[in-house]
Amino acid sequence: MIKSKLPKVGTTIFSVMSALANEHGAVNLSQGFPDFPIDERLKSYIVEALDKNQVQYAPMPGRLDLREAICDKVQMQHGVSIDSNTEITVTAGATQAIYTAITAIINEGDEVILFDPAYDCYDPTIRVNKGIPIHLKLVHPTYHINWDEVRQKVNANTKLIITNNPHNPCGSVWTKEDLAELESLVQANPQLMVLSDEVYEHIQYADEHQSVLKSEILRERSFVTYSFGKSMHVTGWKLGYCIAPKNFTAEFRKVHQYLVFCANNTMQYAVAKYLNTGQFWKDVMPMYRKKKDLFLNAIKASRFKALECSGTYFCLLDYSDISTLTDVEFAKELTIKHGVAAIPVSVFYEDQTDHKVIRICFAKQDETLIKAASLLCKI
Ligand SMILES: Cc1ncc(COP(=O)(O)O)c(C=O)c1O
Repeated sequence: MIKSKLPKVGTTIFSVMSALANEHGAVNLSQGFPDFPIDERLKSYIVEALDKNQVQYAPMPGRLDLREAICDKVQMQHGVSIDSNTEITVTAGATQAIYTAITAIINEGDEVILFDPAYDCYDPTIRVNKGIPIHLKLVHPTYHINWDEVRQKVNANTKLIITNNPHNPCGSVWTKEDLAELESLVQANPQLMVLSDEVYEHIQYADEHQSVLKSEILRERSFVTYSFGKSMHVTGWKLGYCIAPKNFTAEFRKVHQYLVFCANNTMQYAVAKYLNTGQFWKDVMPMYRKKKDLFLNAIKASRFKALECSGTYFCLLDYSDISTLTDVEFAKELTIKHGVAAIPVSVFYEDQTDHKVIRICFAKQDETLIKAASLLCKI
């Protein structure tokens, strides 16, 4: 008999809602992936990679051309020098980077602070490694961190704090003060490490993205994870990377080499070439800002209340003027009766806190967004 390591884990809500959307022919704004074509140049680099037979294993930490291109990118963005040999590892998506970082450092009984609503892979990865997840709540409805509460919870057993900025599912972003709070927290707690999930770094609508890479204090204590899937609209490629100081990266790679050994070489070739064409990310935020404005303007006449969205390609809609159903029931009804699939936010909470909000993804073609908005306005 198998003694499950994750007895409470079932099928994710993303699979459930997508299946329901397909079954009922609903517009699918539930799962977070773009439905528009990718840049032709990126496509051409895949063909070039195949022509050059770049189809065998990549080096374990990732192709050097890609790691060097990432270094240049970090230098351009944050004015920070990262060592391509010792501080970057290319991974099979940010998910693998997160799994690897947690597995590398969490031992039985170690406490890990994370914030609900939380992206779904953090908690199970902590549990598989016999760590103890300590779920704190972001403050509704702005979804910011209550740092006083964090300070109260940190103790000698707290090894890791997992942060996500810009935030999925809430669309909230960090201020300089948040970064300063985290700095003083790690300074006061020498055993504490940080896992900063920054996969939506290029999708922030006002102010600068407050990456932990900006802070020397935090750089020395953090694993920082990124996803080309999010920034280049290729979620199916599952290609990402982790930036961490040399001693952290050494432990990270011990796990990485036996988990996957290396990420997909063909895609790494294409992404390295694409990174070297210039600052591709400059177009990403304006494109999503247009989509966000289009969608939010189009639902103004509806009874949904959109919460503030400062980053990511998700926004939260409060439906409390429409229904008293739980958010899970409401999301199902929305799909089946009204033809729009969304994600109930309670699934991102350990205790299923229900604020009567659903998450929609606006990384969709304009026609899809207009169609969804007109259906929402009829409710
Ligand atoms: C906050 C967050 N972290 C990590 C990931 C995983 O990224 P990847 O698809 O590169 O594994 C996602 C994907 O949705 C995400 O939203």
